[in-house]
Amino acid sequence: MKKYLLLWLLPAFQAAAQSSPAAPPLTASLGGVKLTFSLTAGRPGYAVTYDQKPVVTTSRLGIALEDGQGFAGPLVLTGSELKDVDETWQPVWGEVKSIRNHYQQLTVHLRQPAAPGRRLDVVFRVFADGVGFRYEFPRQLALGNFVVSDELTEFALPADHQAFWIPGDYDTNEYLYTHSRLSAVDNSAQVRSSGEIAVRVAPDPQAVATPLMLKADNGLYLNIHEAAQVNYPAMQLHVDRASHVLTARLVPSAVGGKAFLHAPSCTPWRTLIVSDKAPDILASKLILNLNEPNKLPTTDWIKPMKFVGVWWEMQTGRSDWKYAASADTLDPQGRLIPTGRHGANTANVKRYIDFAAQHGMAGVLVEGWNVGWEDWFGNWKENVFDFVTPYPDFNVSEIHRYAVSKGVKMIMHNETSGAATNYEQHLDTAYQFMNKYGYPAVKTGYVGRIIPRGEHHDGQWMSNHFVRVAEMAARHHVMVDMHESVRPTGLSRTYPNWMASEAGRGNEYNAFSTGSPPEHETIMPFTRFMGGPMDYTPGIFKLKNFEPTGKRQVHTTLAKQLALYVVLYSPLQMAADLPENYEQHLDAFQFIQDVPVDWDDTRVLAAEPGDYITTARKAKGKDEWYLGSITDEQARTQPVKLDFLTPGQRYEATIYADGKGADWQQNPTAYQITRQVVTSKSALTLKLAPSGGAAVSFKPLAGK
Ligand code: NOJ
Ligand code: CA
Repeated sequence: MKKYLLLWLLPAFQAAAQSSPAAPPLTASLGGVKLTFSLTAGRPGYAVTYDQKPVVTTSRLGIALEDGQGFAGPLVLTGSELKDVDETWQPVWGEVKSIRNHYQQLTVHLRQPAAPGRRLDVVFRVFADGVGFRYEFPRQLALGNFVVSDELTEFALPADHQAFWIPGDYDTNEYLYTHSRLSAVDNSAQVRSSGEIAVRVAPDPQAVATPLMLKADNGLYLNIHEAAQVNYPAMQLHVDRASHVLTARLVPSAVGGKAFLHAPSCTPWRTLIVSDKAPDILASKLILNLNEPNKLPTTDWIKPMKFVGVWWEMQTGRSDWKYAASADTLDPQGRLIPTGRHGANTANVKRYIDFAAQHGMAGVLVEGWNVGWEDWFGNWKENVFDFVTPYPDFNVSEIHRYAVSKGVKMIMHNETSGAATNYEQHLDTAYQFMNKYGYPAVKTGYVGRIIPRGEHHDGQWMSNHFVRVAEMAARHHVMVDMHESVRPTGLSRTYPNWMASEAGRGNEYNAFSTGSPPEHETIMPFTRFMGGPMDYTPGIFKLKNFEPTGKRQVHTTLAKQLALYVVLYSPLQMAADLPENYEQHLDAFQFIQDVPVDWDDTRVLAAEPGDYITTARKAKGKDEWYLGSITDEQARTQPVKLDFLTPGQRYEATIYADGKGADWQQNPTAYQITRQVVTSKSALTLKLAPSGGAAVSFKPLAGK
C-alpha cells in the first residue's frame, strides 16, 4: 500500500485561509475520476470529473445543527491528508467471489470559527468508478450530543439529465419509476394516500429517493445513492428543476430534527458512481466497498437459498393470512371462528414442503401462521403480534418434524404491522422460537405506521431498529429478509446475515394492483438493487387469470420470469408461484431448480436502463454459467458472445426462450427449451418477445 502524506501546519495554513478568499483546491483521483475540494469564502465545496467531463460542478458541503453553531457557515481549513488504499476482500456471498477495494482518500479538516473548537472532517474516497464522501465529527469537547437539523450537501449537475426516479417518500419506496428530465420532476401525481404502507408522506413534490439513476446527453451514466446508512436517516434529493442542483434532504424524525448524534460519529457515505457505459454502473462495487467489513464472529451458518412459500395464494386472494373473520367474535368456548380460508394450515404447508423436497427448493416460507392477522392492517396498535403463538390449525412441531424428515428448512415470517417497539420487546423470544423449531431465516415486515410515535420507515430511529434486528438475528444464527425497510446501502457486507430487503416495488404488485410495466425490471438493477439484494419474488408461471377478477396480470412472459433469477441478484430467492402452477411447466421450472443464488463471477453483457439487461454469472465453486436477458415492452434481438466460458471447454447450453408468438399481453406462457453444445468461441442470438426474456444454463460436458 502506497501512502502519501500531505499535512499543512495549522497556524501557517489558518493564516493563509483567513487572508485569502479561496483556499488552494485539494484533489484526489483514480483512473478517469477526479475529485476537487475547495473552500471559497469559507464555504466548503467539491466537484467531480470523469475523463475530464464534469460529473458534478462545484457543489456545496455542510451540516447545519439545531443549535445554530454547526457547519453551515464559513469554515476554516486546518489541514488535509491523502492516502492510497488497494486491498481485496471476499464477501460471504454475492455476485463475485472477490472484491477489489482500490481508492485514493482525501481527508480535509475543518473548523467552525464562530463556535471555537468545533471541528468537522470531510472524507472523500475516489475510486476508478466514482466517489464516496462523508462527514465525520471527531471526538471533541465542543461537540457532545447534537442534533442535525439539515444536511447541506449538493450535487450540482451540469445539465438537465434524464432521470429514473421515484418520489422521496418518508415511508416507502414501493413506487413505479418515472423516466423524465430533471426539469420535469414532480411527484405529486404518484404520491398516494393509501396503499400497503397505509401512510405515505412525500411533502416535497420535487423530492426523489435514491438510488437515483441519471443519464447525460453526453453519454455519461451517473448513479447517486449512499453507503452504510447507520444511525442516520435516509438521504433523499430535492431537485431544483431550473438549475439541476440536487440538495440532500434527510428524512425527519417524528419529534423534529433529522439525526441525534454524539461525537465521535459520522454520516453515511454519499456515493456517485459514474461511467460512460451503463453495464459498468451495475458492476460497481463502490457501495459495498464503503461499508465496514463483516462484524459477525462466524458466518458458516449463513447459507444462500431458494424457497417456495404459502404466500402468492394470499397475495392473489385464493386464501387468507387471517384464520377468523374477526378477533372479537368468538365461539361459545371462547375460540376464534375459522373462515375456512386460512392458507397457513398444516396440510397446506406440507404440500409446499413436499414440492420443495421434490424440486430442490431449500426452504418454505409460511405467512399468516401466527395469531393476530384479524387485526393487523391499518391499526395503530402496539400488541397485534407476539411472534410465537400459532393459529390452532398450524401445528408448529408437526411441521418442524415433517420439514426435517424431508430435508427442507422452514422460513419464519414476522410481520410487525409497523409496531417496531413491540417487535424489539419480543425479539429474544421470537428468535429463540426460530432456533427451537429450526428456522434458519426470517422475513420481517413493517406494513403500517411505525410505533413509536409515527417515526418514519426511512428515518434515523428505524435505521437503528433494522440494524438491531440484524444483530439480534445474527446472535441467533438467523438470516434476515426485511420488507418495508429502508432501502439498502450495502450493509450486508457488515452484517452478512442481512440477506435481502424488499424496499421497492416487487413482483407482488402484479398480484394486487394494476402491476408494473414491462420496463420496471430493466430499471430496478440501476436503482433499487444498487444498494443490495431485493426479495423481488420472481418465478410467476401463471401470468394471467390467477385471481378472481381476472383483471390482474403479470407484465412479463414466462421466460422473462426465469431470466429475472440471473438479472436480479438475491442470495435468498423465492420461487413465488403455487406448486400446482409449477407442475404445469416442470420443464421450465428446471431452470429455477438449477440456478444458483451465490456466484463466483458476474458479467453484465448489455444494459440500458428502461430498455434491456443481459447478465451472465458463474456458479460458486463450479464451472457452470447462467445467463438472463430481459427486455422492456419492445421485442429485441440480443446477440451474446460466449467468451466468458472457459476456453477449450465444451458446455451444454439449455436455452429457455420466448416461444413462437410469445407476447406478455396476449401469449405470455409461450416458451421453448432448446439445447446446443457451445464453447467460448460460440455466440447466441436471443430473440426476446415484447416484455420477454431468455434464460440459459451452461453446464460443462465431460471430455473436452
Ligand atoms: C407486505 C409484504 O411485502 C408481503 O410480501 C407480505 O406478504 C405482506 N406485507 C404481509 O406481511
Ligand atoms: Ca411490501
